[in-house]
Amino acid sequence: MPTNKQLIEKDARYIAKAMKVRYNPMVVDRAEGARLVDADGRRYLDFSSYWSIGHLGFDNQAVRRAVRDQMARTTFAGLVSNVHQPGVELAEKLVELAGGRKDMRVWYGLSGSDACEAANRIIVAATGKRRIVTFVGSWHGTSDGSMAISASPAFNRYMFASNATKAPYPNAYRPPFGGSGRNVTVQCLDYLENYIFETISPPSETAAVFVETIQADSGEVLPPPDFIPKLRALCDRHNLLLVVDDIKVGLGRTGKMFSYQHYGIEPDILILGKSLGGGLPLSAIVGRADILDAPGGFHGFTNSGNAACCAAGLATVTEIERQRLPERAGRNGRYLQRRLKEALGGFDIVGDVRGIGMIQGIELVQDRKTKKPNREAAAKIVFRAWELGLVCYYAGMWGSVIELTPPLILTRAEIDEGVDILARATRDYLEGDISDKAIAPYAGW
Ligand SMILES: Cc1ncc(COP(=O)(O)O)c(C=O)c1O
Repeated sequence: MPTNKQLIEKDARYIAKAMKVRYNPMVVDRAEGARLVDADGRRYLDFSSYWSIGHLGFDNQAVRRAVRDQMARTTFAGLVSNVHQPGVELAEKLVELAGGRKDMRVWYGLSGSDACEAANRIIVAATGKRRIVTFVGSWHGTSDGSMAISASPAFNRYMFASNATKAPYPNAYRPPFGGSGRNVTVQCLDYLENYIFETISPPSETAAVFVETIQADSGEVLPPPDFIPKLRALCDRHNLLLVVDDIKVGLGRTGKMFSYQHYGIEPDILILGKSLGGGLPLSAIVGRADILDAPGGFHGFTNSGNAACCAAGLATVTEIERQRLPERAGRNGRYLQRRLKEALGGFDIVGDVRGIGMIQGIELVQDRKTKKPNREAAAKIVFRAWELGLVCYYAGMWGSVIELTPPLILTRAEIDEGVDILARATRDYLEGDISDKAIAPYAGW
């Protein structure tokens, strides 16, 4: 078996930097639940789920069995030009979970990015309206089409023309219109309705609003509770579709199966990905038949909805329900947030701790008064945490928010263990124990 050192050397020699967003030199050899084990046998607790893919941890037996059984029947079957059991049964299940209305359809892709791009294209074709609205800070993917409708500073430099107008998102910690943040929902929606709709994106030309109910990659920005219901009402007033991108937080992470269920609304279109395939590449659009059937024809890849991924998806969703992971994520998420506030609240560089369920962000600042983003602290604390045995990442508009998206199967003892490591890593950072040189190879975001 190769060692960590040998694998890291080959990685540097052969794997393109174009696909690397690295925070440390973590090698993954195997896993047990929420623990990763590297090639030298060292164990790490995982608070990332690899960007929220591993809701079930990394070694779920039901997912393994489903993929093995499907591969024993056929190594490949597709849905583009065939029909197969896991594909239609997973679709039936997703429709049932999303409200069970008869007039819903499911589209499959291979990644969140292709699903967002396809949703945009299908919606434009179905409505005949060519514009959409998305939000500053949104992250919908890294294909050209999905990147074009996103608005994250980390990737803006790469992108290109778009049919999307980007509206301000109600960030109460950093209110886009200044002030205390108390009126941030009203300010943002007012700007959308009375400025954007009146100027560059009139409702007569606007098909949909795409929204994340918590902007994860922009730093776990959780809008005030009235934002999503008011956005739904605004869409209804102007005859726009509401598209919820639940790729990162859907399937239980927020404490409900789908994040919009916290707000008593229904989207017209729901987009899923990441955790859906239980580790295999799978994304889905679940939504109104009159939209998803309208354009007909080909909006997918040859490999979309392949049987092994759908089998993994069906097993994943079934396990999430069977283990009641949404409820557990709600309970444990409240505990995690409380423990984080207790353990980190005393540090002046911790500006905010926020989130919902098992997605929590720690926003690091130079000091609480100026709120100047502290990217160096995020990079060094995340690196030090890894040295101490905890895997997590940082993200955010200014790269200054530590993102915690642990597997939903985490135990309370594991939460305590991870929080203790984060507190120690923060102390070590403040004592100057982490050199610039140590983190230099890891640019993160
Ligand atoms: C909310 C959201 N939408 C879409 C995507 C794109 O998904 P993927 O990178 O799996 O294609 C991401 C990825 O981070 C995401 O967080």
